Amino acid sequence: MSEHTYPSVKDLTLEEKASLTSGGDAWHLQGVEAKGIPGYMITDGPHGLRKSLATSTGETDLDDSVPATCFPPAAGLSSSWNPSLVRKVGEAMGEECIQEKVAVILGPGVNIKRNPLGGRCFEYWSEDPYLAGHEAVGIVEGVQSKGVGTSLKHFAVNNQETDRLRVDARVSQRALREIYLPAFEHIVKTAQPWTIMCSYNRVNGVHSAQNRWLLTDVLRDEWGFKGIVMSDWGADHDRVASVNAGLNLEMPPSGTDDEIVYAARDGRIDPAQLDRMAQGMIDLTDKARAAMSIDGYRFDVDAHDEVAHQAAVESMVLLKNEDAILPLKKDAKIAVIGEFARTPRYQGGGSSHITPTKMTSFLDTLAERGIKADFAPGFTLDLDPADSALELEAVETARDADVALLFLGLPEAAESEGFDRETLDMPAKQIELLAKVAAVNPNVAVVLSNGSVVSVAPWAGNAKGILESWLLGQAGGPALADVIFGEASPSGKLAQSIPLDINDDPSMLNWPGEEGHVDYGEGVFVGYRYYDTYDVAVDYPFGYGLSYASFEISDVHAEKTGANTASVTATVANVSDVDGAETVQVYVAPGKAEVARPSHELKGFAKVFLKAGESKTVTFDLDGRAFAYWSEKYGDWHIEAGAYGIEVGTSSRDIAATATVELEGDGKSLPLDEWSTYGEWEADPVGARVVAAVEAAGESGTLPKLPDNTMMRIFLKSMPINSMPMLMSDGGRRITAFMLDEYAKLTK
Ligand code: BGC
Repeated sequence: MSEHTYPSVKDLTLEEKASLTSGGDAWHLQGVEAKGIPGYMITDGPHGLRKSLATSTGETDLDDSVPATCFPPAAGLSSSWNPSLVRKVGEAMGEECIQEKVAVILGPGVNIKRNPLGGRCFEYWSEDPYLAGHEAVGIVEGVQSKGVGTSLKHFAVNNQETDRLRVDARVSQRALREIYLPAFEHIVKTAQPWTIMCSYNRVNGVHSAQNRWLLTDVLRDEWGFKGIVMSDWGADHDRVASVNAGLNLEMPPSGTDDEIVYAARDGRIDPAQLDRMAQGMIDLTDKARAAMSIDGYRFDVDAHDEVAHQAAVESMVLLKNEDAILPLKKDAKIAVIGEFARTPRYQGGGSSHITPTKMTSFLDTLAERGIKADFAPGFTLDLDPADSALELEAVETARDADVALLFLGLPEAAESEGFDRETLDMPAKQIELLAKVAAVNPNVAVVLSNGSVVSVAPWAGNAKGILESWLLGQAGGPALADVIFGEASPSGKLAQSIPLDINDDPSMLNWPGEEGHVDYGEGVFVGYRYYDTYDVAVDYPFGYGLSYASFEISDVHAEKTGANTASVTATVANVSDVDGAETVQVYVAPGKAEVARPSHELKGFAKVFLKAGESKTVTFDLDGRAFAYWSEKYGDWHIEAGAYGIEVGTSSRDIAATATVELEGDGKSLPLDEWSTYGEWEADPVGARVVAAVEAAGESGTLPKLPDNTMMRIFLKSMPINSMPMLMSDGGRRITAFMLDEYAKLTK
């Protein structure tokens, strides 16, 4: 540990080391003043800074925080499919942390949106781990480029709010490795977040804070994580077990540092483990020291608002645009209906609640830009029944307009951290209002505000246009105006499938669990991996999103660059007279596999900005992991030899062209034994030589001949060879013995 410049853990007393493993208060690390270790501030996250004004009381005050730029929450930003934009957001957040002397911002959260009803879907990125990891990494890189840390959360498997503090998420190793861990893995390996926050729940029986397999075996030993792990707020239930598992920091502190001291003295904690955990805390402080020493820094409020604005523009997904109802003409007679146009729902509820530096609603923006429109709120933003006077006013406002722009969505009471939604539907009063407006004016465009998917199909017939705007942060008003009036073309793509019915969702059979546990019975078949593999109709597929421009993908080629790697190129052309952006998506479709695999999985994407008439060629490099699955048999990633389709398209259901590569496979094989089936012997290179010897011996008469009847051969194929006597009695025993003998000789 001599490489550390200031105090090494060796310079600390046992009590001081123990003290470093818990916070100083709810929002500070516990420094060791005597040794020059400061107790820096750490605070929420994730889509902007929530520095509570009641900083040291430890009480949760979700609304009282210093003004900070409110960027679009992940529900929106993830739809941008633009990692470099995400990075800009991260850089801006890092600067705000410097001003506010915050050493670590608590985010991003990259748990998988397993089910759209999940209460925190608004602050998670996607149903797809590749997309989640490759976008959210921008936050980590951006913030940390400013010398401030991030806390990648919630590690791991926090996919529901119901019973979140104790639920046991029971997940197969394969689903963990392929779905629930890869976003964390990618970010750890490429960006080394300074900290990781564990989740509240249990993972396969063990609370995350005490889960050595997660915090040490996988995170540090396999992935090479160098930072510290902190508990989610109140997630550490056993200080000693947590330190032993690899948790560096208990937040907020429970005042039990003595327990760590006693445990280190009586051998329940290995002193070397305590040293590692405490040294991690010293290193974290050391990393933040330069940025935290900057005094008087002021971030550029307007420049950050502009970043939030750009991010909001790219967060919107145009779902439907019949008769090109959008963009609107500024001089059209426009009726704006819906309270959300005046009182935007711009962020989610709970610990991520930010006090924005500015707030411009859509109506404010119209006024600022001198665009005339008649407004009627139509409904109230609560769960009360419809108000007929408001409805009547809205219908009358819409009646003579050229177009009615309806702002609908989920009010805050319907969606937040802390609980899961019970229905995919929007409040009935809004759907009814839409029907009434559509009855007097067929030119209706709906703008949606919601943190997670809502059902669209039941009411879509009443709207010619549907713009899914998610939660857009503080600059949603101007961003909406840009898109609605055509200053910018919509370019967002769905990071989450929109099902026709929530009961189509593969996790519904096990949602949200019972008696303290939830079984992830759908395994790796989450979201489009299920819908596309089992051909289940969806309303709007993963990756989908329209533009005012039109694009064409052509010249799709794939070639092998190694035994199990490939490079893909495709040309994308803007074939319209409007500027815009298309996101080219690459899905790998495994052929026949030994395990049940999704029909295809996202393994690359590129958002390409194209002027009218312009075209560009994009290249994607696919590494071995793009083709691998997690094999429980090998306890490792496994690439089977064979043909793989490489699909290039604009959503999981709009594939423009498919190229094929023939991979050699990773050559992994397990030793054969009496429990290996005859078919497994045939498929194995050495086993096949033994099988050939058995057949030859059968021909020459030195061993009994294997049955050649088709049915018997089918039985034989799936039979462990120690069951051969079932088919051939004593002769079978001789064959088994011969095979094991030959194999031993060949593998000696
Ligand atoms: C949330 C975390 C948050 C922490 C601190 C917890 O309840 O799960 O995401 O960072 O509180 O506010």
